[in-house]
Amino acid sequence: MIKIIDLEHEYKKDNNESIKTLNKVNIDINKGDFVSIIGHNGSGKSTLAKHLNGLIIPQKGEVIIDDIKVIDDNNIWEIRRKVGMVFQNPDNQFVGGTIEEDIAFGLENIGFPSKDMMERINYAAGKVGMGDYLKRPPHKLSGGQKQRSAIGSVLAMEPDYLVLDEPTSMLDPKGRKEVIEVLRTLNKQDKMTILLITHFMDEVVYSDKVIVMDKGNIVLQGTPKEVFNNKKMLKSINLELPKAAILQEIIANKGINFKDEVLTKEDLVEELWQLF
Ligand SMILES: Nc1ncnc2c1ncn2[C@@H]1O[C@H](COP(=O)(O)OP(=O)(O)OP(=O)(O)O)[C@@H](O)[C@H]1O
Ligand SMILES: [Mg+2]
Repeated sequence: MIKIIDLEHEYKKDNNESIKTLNKVNIDINKGDFVSIIGHNGSGKSTLAKHLNGLIIPQKGEVIIDDIKVIDDNNIWEIRRKVGMVFQNPDNQFVGGTIEEDIAFGLENIGFPSKDMMERINYAAGKVGMGDYLKRPPHKLSGGQKQRSAIGSVLAMEPDYLVLDEPTSMLDPKGRKEVIEVLRTLNKQDKMTILLITHFMDEVVYSDKVIVMDKGNIVLQGTPKEVFNNKKMLKSINLELPKAAILQEIIANKGINFKDEVLTKEDLVEELWQLF
């Protein structure tokens, strides 16, 4: 389990003023959970994510991964083995000339036995649907394929937790869908714990838990239904609703009311057919 207790962080600006980017943040993430974090630009999401694998060491408060506390540079390698990170730009994450080399690079770094390497590479590429592309160079892949490969390279290290900071924000709708499907399958089939930071509301509706951040504070936390019920509050901090919920509002304005709140495409279909 990941436990974040009263975490605070401030950045020093050039003129020596400081800006507080995390303010008494408390989060529990259970093994096997799919947790999403949303929040307007600058709300502190990336700062929080960087605390989870030792890219930032806590200034105040605690970050505990299973039973290991992130304290200083001495244990960050252990932490990084447990928490895999995927970032926004897939082009910045490749170190190898092909998918195979890219996955191998990470494994070589941790001294993985070379006789088992090919098996692990096939396993990791297979998990993200890239098994047939091992000899491809990254520049001959679509954005979605690149990002899936980046996830594969992280999975090869067998992390216990996967943290993704806006992994779909540079992708087209098809690429976004591919990446989200991979994440949902990893969570459902392999019980991989996933923490997804995103600004696409339609990506969070299947999460177990949604965390909403604003100006360094957690302002809402709950199931997607609980969180998206706070429509006024979400609008006040410049967040949208999922598309299905927006459509529900438009239809309600025409005087047609659904029985339930809808969040997903499936919810929407369920309500719409009953109108006939
Ligand atoms: N290295 C840094 N030095 C100084 N200030 C920083 C640094 N990184 C982030 N900040 C500031 O900290 C605040 C939180 O930034 P952060 O990147 O965590 O937000 P975010 O929620 O990830 O935003 P976005 O949605 O734009 O990715 C912002 O005001 C940002 O300008
Ligand atoms: Mg960010």
